[in-house]
Amino acid sequence: MPLLCIASPKGGVGKTMLTANLADALRRQGRRVLALDLDPQNALRLHFGLPPADGAGFAVELLHGGPWRPHIRQTPAGVALLPHATVTTEEALALAAALEQMPERLTAPLREMLADRDMIVVVDLPPGASRALDLLAPLSDLTIVVLLADGHGAALMPDIDSGRFLGLGALPGARQGRLRLVLNQVDYTSRLSRAVAEAMARHLGPRLLGAVAREDAVAEALAAQRLILDSAPSSRAALDLRELGGAVAGMLPQPAEAAQAWWSR
Ligand SMILES: Nc1ncnc2c1ncn2[C@@H]1O[C@H](COP(=O)(O)OP(=O)(O)OP(=O)(O)O)[C@@H](O)[C@H]1O
Ligand SMILES: [Mg+2]
Repeated sequence: MPLLCIASPKGGVGKTMLTANLADALRRQGRRVLALDLDPQNALRLHFGLPPADGAGFAVELLHGGPWRPHIRQTPAGVALLPHATVTTEEALALAAALEQMPERLTAPLREMLADRDMIVVVDLPPGASRALDLLAPLSDLTIVVLLADGHGAALMPDIDSGRFLGLGALPGARQGRLRLVLNQVDYTSRLSRAVAEAMARHLGPRLLGAVAREDAVAEALAAQRLILDSAPSSRAALDLRELGGAVAGMLPQPAEAAQAWWSR
């Protein structure tokens, strides 16, 4: 049932990297996980080893209203994957229009997936504000906003304080309680990067869920189409991702929570 959304005000900050590797970290904790790619860039599949020429995905069903289940791939990592599909510009525009006119084409299949109480759905979103995020944020148990530990990330602090970013300012206050930030690309060898990360961490306080180190191992994992916990398990980034996985799991409803509540009655 838990829905975890990964978003960011700025592009290229590591959303897709985090979606794939958090899905893997949660899977390694014994959870069942489905990773859903809502970004027409269709890049999430690359982290799971799908051949670049394999452009099939579920997005066509946003136009046709068919079932998503046949599009699910079982990946070697054990994470179920719904790739977006490789689309042309015209198709991407048609998909955006479909989301606008028929939002239930996204929300109905998603609600069906969320009815499976024990499965965590992790969603990779396009950069910036999007209709997909608007539709999903009210359903999500946790929305992670990724920021870079740099001057641009630091400059976003006032917007984050006011809640006026990613269109999330329009959401009810309670939703903000389900929003956490993650700093990515913290370069521990750079005094500037460390100082910016520390200042952002002080400012964000408990809103900061964790950080991921900037390391060649992260980019190399993507180049090799592997997951970081698999390709570089003793790297700093792998340690960070394991910690983040633990923090995320702690914020999501636990499996069989309802059964426990029922037994204890
Ligand atoms: N911690 C890191 N250390 C080194 N490289 C990183 C790190 N995180 C991400 N990268 C690299 O940065 C690039 C952008 O990452 P990614 O594609 O995950 O960002 P994104 O936010 O999903 O981008 P977009 O907004 O285009 O969807 C990739 O080449 C990725 O390998
Ligand atoms: Mg991405």
